[in-house]
Amino acid sequence: MRQKIVAGNWKMNKNLQEGLELAKEIDKLVSGLTNDVKVILAPPFTHITEVKKAVGSKISVSSQNCAAEVSGAYTGEVSASMIKSTGAEYAIIGHSERRQYYGETDAILLKKVKLALANGLKPIFCIGEVLEERESGKHFDVVKSQIVNGVFELTAEEFKNVVLAYEPVWAIGTGKTASSDQAQEMHKFIRETVAAKYGQAVADDTSILYGGSCKASNAKELFANPDVDGGLIGGAALVAAEFLGIITAF
Ligand code: 13P
Repeated sequence: MRQKIVAGNWKMNKNLQEGLELAKEIDKLVSGLTNDVKVILAPPFTHITEVKKAVGSKISVSSQNCAAEVSGAYTGEVSASMIKSTGAEYAIIGHSERRQYYGETDAILLKKVKLALANGLKPIFCIGEVLEERESGKHFDVVKSQIVNGVFELTAEEFKNVVLAYEPVWAIGTGKTASSDQAQEMHKFIRETVAAKYGQAVADDTSILYGGSCKASNAKELFANPDVDGGLIGGAALVAAEFLGIITAF
């Protein structure tokens, strides 16, 4: 059975003190839950070690990125091995903001995915089309090519550690969420794409998260879809009560 996951991507928000306060607040709310949802916090690199120490065993920690090189003279970069050494278990890779603003290509992302896996981190690999691509009917092709180029070089054993996150770029931070039908249609396509490559059993075990203006008020409808296994949350992950509302939306 695939894991239900709600992950909070804090992006470049909260200083260390504010981040710790938020993490502790979320930890307190989550510690009382008895559901089977995996909760992941993805704070900035500077906060990961402290956030990991501040939360209990019900919460996992993720980075928002990792370097495409192993180690060495890469000023400003943070390696997968360094991230793993903090106690983090996941690394978000291929977020559309990294692709758009930092020129991260499929080839770079594949290197990052491989390094994350080699260091025992589970990649949360993001895919999703821009508005223009959806409006011209290219969204399935775009998402398929991101998956094929980003993760399909992996063996099935390696791929079993990958979480996929469908984040239509036009829905991120815009308040314009994908409809429940749009999300299900794409998630089903993604699962079929995975099944064609790695087989139905692997596809059935792959968690596919939805991201883009997901909040407590729309999470229930989105998560009710058979192929939506949770969410990668931006803005709504910065408010503990709102984030809890999403975690309890299954
Ligand atoms: P919002 O939830 O703010 O739209 O952001 C989604 C996202 O990009 C999560 O990675």
